[in-house]
Amino acid sequence: MTSKDNSKAALIDSLNGLLADSFALYLKTKNFHWHVRGPQFHDLHLLFDTHATEVFAMTDLVAERVRKLGGKTMTSIGSIAARTTIADEDDTSLDAMAMVRQLFEDNTAFVGTLKAIKELAGEAGDNATDGMIDDWTDQTEQRAWFLREILA
Ligand SMILES: [Fe+2]
Repeated sequence: MTSKDNSKAALIDSLNGLLADSFALYLKTKNFHWHVRGPQFHDLHLLFDTHATEVFAMTDLVAERVRKLGGKTMTSIGSIAARTTIADEDDTSLDAMAMVRQLFEDNTAFVGTLKAIKELAGEAGDNATDGMIDDWTDQTEQRAWFLREILA
C-alpha cells in the first residue's frame, strides 16, 4: 500500500468511528429529550430535540463519504455499539442538569474527534470531507456552547 492508500484507510476508519458516535449521540440526546423532568422541562425537551435532529442529519452524509472513498460502513446497532466512544446512559431518573452536563462533555469530545478527522482528511487529500468537517465542527461547538451556558 502507498502512503496515500494508508491515509485513505485511516480516514475511512475514523469516519466510521464518527458515524458510530453520531448514532450513539443522537440516541442519547433523544433519550434525554424523552426522559428529562423538572422546572426546565419545556426548554430542555425542545433543545435536546433540536440537537438530536442536527446530529442525526450528519449520519447519512458521513456514511456516504465512507462509500465514496471506497470503504464499507456501519451495518447494524451491534456494529455501532462495538465502535462508539459515547457512553450509554440508561438511568431515566437522571437529574436534568446532569443530562445537560453529559451532553456538554460528549459534544466537547465530539469536537476533538472532528478535529482529528480533519487532519486525516488533509493527509488523504480529501477536500470534500475536509469541508464538511468544518460545518459539523461549527454545529457541534454551537451545541456545546448552548449546553455550557445552561450549566453556568
Ligand atoms: Fe419528540
